[in-house]
This record gives sequence, C-alpha cells and structure tokens, in this order.
Amino acid sequence: MDTSQMTHIQDEFDVSLETVEDARSLQDLKVRYLGKKGRVTGLMKEMKNLSNEERPAYGQKVNELRRNIEASIEEKSAEIEAAALEERLKNETIDVTLPGRKFNIGSQHPISRIIEDIEDFFIGLGYEIQEGYEVETDYYNFEALNLPKSHPARDMQDTFYISEEILLRTHTSPVQARVLEDRKGKEAVKIICPGKVYRRDSDDATHSHQFTQIEGLVVDKNIHMSDLKGTLELFAKEIFGTEREIRLRPSFFPFTEPSVEVDISCFKCKGAGCNVCKQSGWIEILGAGMVHPNVLRMAGYDPDEYSGFAFGMGPDRVAMLRYGIEDIRHLYTNDLRFINQFKQTEDGGENVESI
Ligand code: PHE
Repeated sequence: MDTSQMTHIQDEFDVSLETVEDARSLQDLKVRYLGKKGRVTGLMKEMKNLSNEERPAYGQKVNELRRNIEASIEEKSAEIEAAALEERLKNETIDVTLPGRKFNIGSQHPISRIIEDIEDFFIGLGYEIQEGYEVETDYYNFEALNLPKSHPARDMQDTFYISEEILLRTHTSPVQARVLEDRKGKEAVKIICPGKVYRRDSDDATHSHQFTQIEGLVVDKNIHMSDLKGTLELFAKEIFGTEREIRLRPSFFPFTEPSVEVDISCFKCKGAGCNVCKQSGWIEILGAGMVHPNVLRMAGYDPDEYSGFAFGMGPDRVAMLRYGIEDIRHLYTNDLRFINQFKQTEDGGENVESI
C-alpha cells in the first residue's frame, strides 16, 4: 500500500491551514479536503479498487487522515472564534475613566414657583386645589357669573371666541361656577383654582394675551367680609413679608357684591413711595368680594343660608413684583438668559450654565 499520497495530502493541508485567517477560508479549505469532491473523499472512493486484503489497512489510514484533518479544522475554527470574540470585546471596551457628559439641569419657571408658593399657603389653610377648562363655554365664563349676554361689564374682558358659545376663558372664575354647581347647593366650598387665562389684549410690557390667575372661593354658612380680609392679610404677609398690610378699595365685579380691589403696602419702600408703587406706597394686587347672591342662586345655593367670598389674583404680577421683572413678555418668551436667572441650588440640582 502506497501511503505517500496520504502524507502528501496531509502536508499540503497543513501548509494551506497556515494561511487560513478567517471562518470563510477555513470553510473553503474544509470543502476542498472533506467535501463531496474533496481530496480525502477521493481517497475513500479508491477503496473499491483495492483487494480485500489491502482494504482494511487502507481504510484505517484514510480514516486517520480524515480525523486528523477534521481535528485541525475544528481547532482552527475555535481559534478564529476566540480571536473574533477578543476583537469584539476590545472594540466594546468602556473607558470608565472618561469624564461624564454634563446635563443642563432645567429649573422651575418663576410663575410655577409663585403658584406653588401660593398653593402651599392656601393648602395650609385647608383649601383644595381645583382646575377647570381653558376652553370654556360662554355660560360658565360669563352667564353663571352674573354676566348675561348683553351685560356691559363683558367689555372689561376682551374675549377670544371660538364659536358663539365657546371661548378661551378670560379668567379663572368659571371654575367657581362649575364647582358650586357640582356641589349641588349643599356642601361648603373652599378652593383655589390656578390656571392659564386668555384675553384679546395687544401684548406690551404689562399686558399679555395669555397669563395666569389664581382664583379663591369660600362658600359656607356665616362667611363674612371680615373672613376675606383676614385671609388676604395673612396671604400678603406670607408672600410679601410679615410687615405687609392690606387696604381694601371699593370696586366692581358683576359676580361679587360688595367688590373690592386689594392693595398691599409696598415691600420696596415700605410705604414711603418709590418706582414699584408709583409713589403711592401701595401696590394693587388682586380683586375680590362677597359672592353675589345671583351666582349662588344660579348654582343652586340659597343665598339666605349660604354666603361666601372670592378673590382673583395674577401670579405673573406677583412674580414681576417679587423679582423686579419689568416686562411681562419675559415670562412667556422663554429666553434662556432670563429663565436661567431663576435656577435653584437648594434643591440639590447642579447649576450648569447652558451653552
Ligand atoms: N375674575 C376677576 C378678573 O379676572 C377677578 C376676581 C375674581 C374678582 C374673584 C373678584 C372675585 O378680573
């Protein structure tokens, strides 16, 4: 039996294997030697031409050759896989020493902050927070508040109408009307209602077509003007400083009677007169009054049994006064140079200047 051919094949295979570097060429090599028309397979086919005596020894030799080649291929395959894994791991390495990316931490908008402060104060007095709808009906925005269709006082609030009956609320007072109606004339009410309101004003330093209001409403048995005054006095001291005083001036709102404008003593000049209070020593801060009997009646409350007070204030104005903001438009144009001045640090947030 001539085994030199086998040795030759083995040598050639070994040389070829040396040059293999990836799974694909390894596969090609495998086909060339072990595939259907491969060289080892060719040797197997020779068996039929051999004599019975020669065949077993020959068969054994060819099998040995095949096993050798199979083992080498397997070994090479494992090597290639290991190398590929290594390469992938190398590419995926994370450099834990790299500095982290800095985030721009946002901060609370001055209006949100004022609203939260005011909410906190009233929650402390046992008020609930109620929100209404920015898109309202004419009925709740006006009629239920004692402002029938042709009432001249509607002119006080220039309105964006969506249709004849639907509008963008001009104040937060419709929430009063809705809550009173919901409570069905029986339960006491003690709520504040923060939210956005809209008016057809031309924007300038003190007017914006969109702004915020906070409405307050208390309805119960035996509620008097003195309750309103005491509540607002506490409010002024809490929000503007303990030395503040308030002053009530007669005014008119269709949904309150009597109605008042409420001023606080100027926190800047303490009453002496300055640019903030326009030399008067007083700053107008909100509108208020005793809930009009018609409003109570329309919502199902008996005005002989129940009474209440309501007030409405503008957090925008409070923010402007508190932070000395001269133009209301700053509150709505979202200029980061403006907004970033209100960043808080006390909440633990990092103060990163925006780029
Ligand atoms: N709704 C009034 C306004 O927007 C403010 C107000 C509310 C007055 C409640 C009195 C009572 O001008």
